[in-house]
Amino acid sequence: SMLVRSSASAKQAVIRRSFSSGSVPERKVAILGAAGGIGQPLALLMKLNPLVSSLSLYDIANTPGVAADVGHINTRSEVVGYMGDDNLAKALEGADLVIIPAGVPRKPGMTRDDLFNINAGIVKNLCTAIAKYCPHALINMISNPVNSTVPIAAEIFKKAGMYDEKKLFGVTTLDVVRAKTFYAGKANVPVAEVNVPVIGGHAGVTILPLFSQATPQANLSGDVLTALTKRTQDGGTEVVEAKAGKGSATLSMAYAGALFADACLKGLNGVPDVVECSYVQSTITELPFFASKVRLGKNGVEEVLDLGPLSDFEKEGLEALKPELKSSIEKGVKFANQ
Ligand code: NAI
Repeated sequence: SMLVRSSASAKQAVIRRSFSSGSVPERKVAILGAAGGIGQPLALLMKLNPLVSSLSLYDIANTPGVAADVGHINTRSEVVGYMGDDNLAKALEGADLVIIPAGVPRKPGMTRDDLFNINAGIVKNLCTAIAKYCPHALINMISNPVNSTVPIAAEIFKKAGMYDEKKLFGVTTLDVVRAKTFYAGKANVPVAEVNVPVIGGHAGVTILPLFSQATPQANLSGDVLTALTKRTQDGGTEVVEAKAGKGSATLSMAYAGALFADACLKGLNGVPDVVECSYVQSTITELPFFASKVRLGKNGVEEVLDLGPLSDFEKEGLEALKPELKSSIEKGVKFANQ
């Protein structure tokens, strides 16, 4: 622990909180990989979230600086930085929500699956600790390849005997954020009003935006819809290439991660009708994990919503993505059990 507080100021904080935040419950959020390209702006955005009372920043290096910096912001949460394996238990204890952006990002020419060998091991270790120290927390998995890291987490949790499929989420919000932005540009509608579900998984063709269900509706040609779909699928690669070796999406990902974490916290707090797309354990297709609209609640996933009507183009996309998604899931399961 990098932060010591006097008992007087702690007492004051408790008193102040009981008056100022009314019925907003205490919520501890832990970010694992908090000193990274995503982790730092995500720590900033979570520090700005009034639903958070305790912000725990864990990484293998550099968290004291990030925690000291973010901790000076005059918002509700107390911030503590934890560094290294020995402090992982303390970072996780009591967490309601754990966000995981730990691991290496892509460089130009790499697929998300190229990250598997390094990130699978990192995710396995972190999930083993989560099972031990905060088995009831919601998990927001950002580390790639998400199509495989979520099944890895599920297997690790099953082995530990605490797996709750309602509490494990692959974060696909950035695909939704991108689909909304790109659609608004082509449809010429105010971006803030746009909604687009994105289903499937989080890599290449497994990312399937459902522009036929986009609102506000617009009459876009087949060619434009094909181009929008491709741009959404390649959005991550667009950023990787523009950054030319200096990493992948971090700022837009931090925004998307903060948005999804906020939705999870609202669900936990009993806010009704919180719906976001996420990659979760699912029975809406024959695949055991699938991204679709999910209603969030006090237990995490309250309901996995069905896909709704798909255009012929989207139906083809759905069939085309299944083999890759299936093999990414199997690769994760195999790794966790080897
Ligand atoms: P980065 O390399 O800038 O940061 C990763 C951080 O993880 C580093 O600070 C590193 O020290 C830390 N780390 C490594 N091993 C760790 C461990 N065992 N425990 C805790 N922390 C550990 O990478 P960046 O850009 O932040 O990306 C992180 C991950 O997020 C990558 O796997 C990337 O592919 C993924 N990502 C996922 C997206 C999504 O939509 N789900 C979008 C963009 C990136």
